[in-house]
Amino acid sequence: MSLYQHLKSNGPSGFGYGSTAEQVTEGLSLAGRTVLVTGCNSGLGQEALRVLALRGARVIGTARTLEKARAACAAVKGETIPLACELADPASVRACVAAVAATGHRLDAILCNAGIMALPKRQQAFGIELQLFTNHVGHFILVTGLLDRLADDGRVVMLSSAAHKMAPKGGIDFDDLSGEKGYTPWGSYGQSKMANLLFAKELARRFAGTKRTANAVHPGVIQTNLGRHMNPIAGFLFGLTAPLVLKDVAQGAATEVYAAVHPAVAGISGAYFADCNVAKPRADAEDPALAARLWKVTEEIVARL
Ligand SMILES: NC(=O)c1ccc[n+]([C@@H]2O[C@H](COP(=O)([O-])OP(=O)(O)OC[C@H]3O[C@@H](n4cnc5c(N)ncnc54)[C@H](OP(=O)(O)O)[C@@H]3O)[C@@H](O)[C@H]2O)c1
Repeated sequence: MSLYQHLKSNGPSGFGYGSTAEQVTEGLSLAGRTVLVTGCNSGLGQEALRVLALRGARVIGTARTLEKARAACAAVKGETIPLACELADPASVRACVAAVAATGHRLDAILCNAGIMALPKRQQAFGIELQLFTNHVGHFILVTGLLDRLADDGRVVMLSSAAHKMAPKGGIDFDDLSGEKGYTPWGSYGQSKMANLLFAKELARRFAGTKRTANAVHPGVIQTNLGRHMNPIAGFLFGLTAPLVLKDVAQGAATEVYAAVHPAVAGISGAYFADCNVAKPRADAEDPALAARLWKVTEEIVARL
């Protein structure tokens, strides 16, 4: 909770900057629903796991290792199923897809929450810059692999970020997906979050004519382990601003949980949410040709893995 929230009023949804995940699900029974959350052991994913389970959902919580997923699931009340899903390892993601299928449960929502941010030096997985691979390619393999498990009115929610606005000109630098020509920590993070947004847009286009939906969200700015790669001085200054302007974790998890389960979001697809309301992303995030190109290029990357 910060001072800033007192200056912000709620939007048309009735929720806003200061709303928490518990508030946006108050009075909802999620009994009988199954939601998968990636990155359930830390930050916003951990809070989403807790609140969804609290409201009665069966939550499949994934983490990079089974041990982390088990510990996170054991720490919350409700029905949970821990699974390993290391997004930078396609074999692990595919094993997760198989493990979800083996549970026999249909998924009412897939919450693609896990992510890494602003790696100081360029790293790669399978020749692709690591933030793009983890945040986008890993989730692409997971979601496309799980589509036949998704309920007829199932929802896919991608954790994007306002940082998608830091993506390079043109949105995605298709000539440098390895990051070898010009790596910057924030430019590459921005590109990966632009990719999350474009993936949601293209998936929504593919869902057209069905009751399935795909949306992207900006959760706000929250002090979590995501900042672990920030330089210590920037991290210290960031920490100082927390009580003034940042959301806390309970507020940070609200928009993703809202998009995943709130009845008012049924039928909304291809949108970008911030503060639990539909918001406007950078113009090129709404370019259907760019979204379709990214999908095709990602399919080609995945086919080579
Ligand atoms: N916090 C913010 O201000 C903010 C703002 C905008 C957008 N977001 C987005 O919100 C999402 C959640 O962030 P957060 O703030 O909750 O961060 P966090 O506390 O660092 O949690 C990130 C989660 O992702 C997992 N993860 C990282 N690399 C992974 C990999 N290779 N495979 C599988 N899981 C992996 C982490 O696992 P480990 O703990 O094992 O590393 C952790 O569970 C991210 O997508 C982030 O980009 C956050």
